[in-house]
Amino acid sequence: MSKHAAVAGPAVSELLGEAATAISRSRAIDTWHPSLSRYDSEELMVAVLGTGLTPRLRRSPLPSEQRRRFATMVARRIAGEPVARILGHFTFRGLDLVVGDGVFVPRSSSELLAGEAVKALRRRRPPRRAVDVATGAGPVALAMASEVPDAEVWGLDISGAAVKLGRRNAGRLGIANVRFRVSDLVDALPRSWRGALDVITIHPPYVARADLRILPREIRDFEPLQSLTDNSDDGLGLVRRLAVDSHLWLRPGGVVLVEVGTYLSRSAQAALRRAGLSDVTWKRDSLGVTRVVAGRRPRL
Ligand SMILES: C[S@@+](CC[C@H](N)C(=O)[O-])C[C@H]1O[C@@H](n2cnc3c(N)ncnc32)[C@H](O)[C@@H]1O
Repeated sequence: MSKHAAVAGPAVSELLGEAATAISRSRAIDTWHPSLSRYDSEELMVAVLGTGLTPRLRRSPLPSEQRRRFATMVARRIAGEPVARILGHFTFRGLDLVVGDGVFVPRSSSELLAGEAVKALRRRRPPRRAVDVATGAGPVALAMASEVPDAEVWGLDISGAAVKLGRRNAGRLGIANVRFRVSDLVDALPRSWRGALDVITIHPPYVARADLRILPREIRDFEPLQSLTDNSDDGLGLVRRLAVDSHLWLRPGGVVLVEVGTYLSRSAQAALRRAGLSDVTWKRDSLGVTRVVAGRRPRL
């Protein structure tokens, strides 16, 4: 080690390695893929450096002030706090979203739902209308609105804090074709939208009541309870209600898209079929964590 490095402390790569090991050992976190802890530590380091990690930067020592900031962030992550909450924002399909206390942190696993919704919406004739139910900070509603600019999009959530954050994100991003409303499922939609929707999306709180206690702390302690469970025995209480309601709101041929954990895919498909939706299919994300289950209102 050079004299300079000895004074300035360990190189960035060394700090990254130590942080990744410590994060991977945290019992608060579900490190279901070995690369996740490495990914977390690099995201935190990039935030501290304010720039991407080049090979030269990786070899360089970190000034003590930045080293302290990095250590504080890593300690928060080890305690279970999601990286997006530590950083205060999350990039979703290229949109920089603010995240906030009391509102579910968007996950990249929901990008599949947004992508399927965008494709479905583009296939429909104008005027295009979509509603994202249980919208949280609004990632899916905002992606639909920004990627299909001629569509009219609503984001609905039972949480006032979520709706406020969705509006704030829309304002910051300058997305004007989206509105956010407090609503129990689709109750707040205007009557004039009956039979007029092309796409309804939902990433529901799908953890079964009995499974709450086995959730990792990074979820149980950091996400609002109503974003995790609808208190049903199987986690699909809201999906069943929405599937039934969707007939009233969808245009013939319009689709409902539901994001669930892989283990719930079959039951969610059954719920859509039982509600009378047709062409029920599913897609899995590239990591195999999530599935999007789709059903269509039969054409007349
Ligand atoms: C898993 S989070 C998904 C949030 C967002 N769609 C996302 O992917 O980041 C579930 C959301 O459902 C909302 N929610 C729970 N019960 C609801 C209901 N009855 N009607 C509308 N939203 C509800 C919660 O407030 C929470 O924001």
